[in-house]
Amino acid sequence: MGKTYKRLKMEKFDPSLLRLQDSSYAGHYESTSWDDIIDQMNTSTETLTVFKDTPAYEHQWASDPLYEETYSLWKENDFNFNSIKWRSYYPGIHFDGSLATDIASYLGLNIIHSCWISRIDPGFFAPLHCDPFVAEIHDPEKGELKRYAVFITPSELGHIFILGQDHLYNFPVGTVIKWNNPNELHIGINGSMKTKYMINVLGY
Ligand SMILES: [Fe+2]
Repeated sequence: MGKTYKRLKMEKFDPSLLRLQDSSYAGHYESTSWDDIIDQMNTSTETLTVFKDTPAYEHQWASDPLYEETYSLWKENDFNFNSIKWRSYYPGIHFDGSLATDIASYLGLNIIHSCWISRIDPGFFAPLHCDPFVAEIHDPEKGELKRYAVFITPSELGHIFILGQDHLYNFPVGTVIKWNNPNELHIGINGSMKTKYMINVLGY
């Protein structure tokens, strides 16, 4: 058991994880149920937030003062708005809530600040932005706010998550990355032919 476990960990470690600057490798979270979780998300009938810049969705950006600066940045620089789209799924609403508590336990978090799975379809972006709500709801009295990203589907050529100066791609399923700064600039890109999913966890 011990030897098998050690071998598994070594095989799953990507040396590029040693060169990260704005994040760090934080282990592997193993779950046999990622396919089930994604099935639950995609068959959920609960209301879903889709961030997409079309007239039908524009109010999500334009009406939210937290996103005013980000939205202006994209507009001023004439970003291709047809390429902007991502979806967020929440534990206990769109998928089994015990996943969030289990990952938090693995990460040694006592309090879950927030948790969601982000989905980017082929050909779409979550363009350069910070998540402004992170600074808004950070409670320093609870301690240091920690943020993690877990890669939950097999990597495809064209799945890229850019976090500050780190270009994160081609990692094995279950790779956990800790953000140095929970409010770092980031970009999600899917230039592949398959949907990209990632689970995000913030906590104390
Ligand atoms: Fe974000």
